[in-house]
Amino acid sequence: MPSTYVITGASRGLGAEFVRQLSKKGDIVIACARNTAASEDLAALVDNKTVYAVDLDTVNPESIKAAVARIEQLAPQGIDTLINNAGIAGSRDADATNTTAEEYKKVFDTNVIGTSDVTQAFLPLLRKASTRRIVNITSVLGSITLANAMFGPSYRIAKAAENMLGKLFAETLAGEGFTVLNVHPGYVQTRMGGKDAHITPEVSIRGMLSVIEGSTKESNGTFVDYEGKSLPW
Ligand SMILES: NC(=O)c1ccc[n+]([C@@H]2O[C@H](COP(=O)([O-])OP(=O)(O)OC[C@H]3O[C@@H](n4cnc5c(N)ncnc54)[C@H](OP(=O)(O)O)[C@@H]3O)[C@@H](O)[C@H]2O)c1
Repeated sequence: MPSTYVITGASRGLGAEFVRQLSKKGDIVIACARNTAASEDLAALVDNKTVYAVDLDTVNPESIKAAVARIEQLAPQGIDTLINNAGIAGSRDADATNTTAEEYKKVFDTNVIGTSDVTQAFLPLLRKASTRRIVNITSVLGSITLANAMFGPSYRIAKAAENMLGKLFAETLAGEGFTVLNVHPGYVQTRMGGKDAHITPEVSIRGMLSVIEGSTKESNGTFVDYEGKSLPW
């Protein structure tokens, strides 16, 4: 029985690779991106039978509303899994002594509020099915235990907040049988990770799909990496 996935930020990078691997497995994939028409990576995967493209800008409430309405038509039976993948890196030049308010707001808007708004908007469609799975692609850079002064504070702090957001959704929705996961994809060769990153998108997504598909209600509220290893908050 194919599973229905909604993925945000599917224009390129990890999002597009999620679409590629899930479609090969025979799942129904609803690939959301800010501008689907401008994404060549995505266009090559869309067949409008099992892979659909839907415009969704995660920081624009009207865009979220329109996307949910379109997906209700595509999946009237509901969706099984929402993957909150869209994210931005922010500035890597600043440190905690000089990061600006604008920088914090921009990164928080996408990586935290966007994830929250999208998740809230898709809850009715998730509740229609029994799987009830939400996956936030967060980062080990959001771990307070493992923190150091490298990389931009805006990204680290927003990813720490996104981890908390996932944990709170997990706690709040546990009674309804939801499984909410915070997953670190590894250090991956994408536009964000750069070419010197440790692993390919193919390896990262293969690992994350194994973690996601193998998750149970006991996995609710966990923070793990693409190999399923538990990470400290
Ligand atoms: N690569 C790594 O090493 C790494 C490590 C840890 C965590 N992550 C996380 O993994 C996720 C995917 O990252 P990636 O490496 O694939 O980065 P990427 O290649 O830069 O891709 C980011 C994706 O997010 C989309 N996006 C950004 N803002 C959006 C918005 N407002 N609405 C909709 N889509 C939006 C981008 O769309 P556009 O094409 O429209 O810009 C793009 O599809 C992110 O959440 C990131 O924080 C990545």
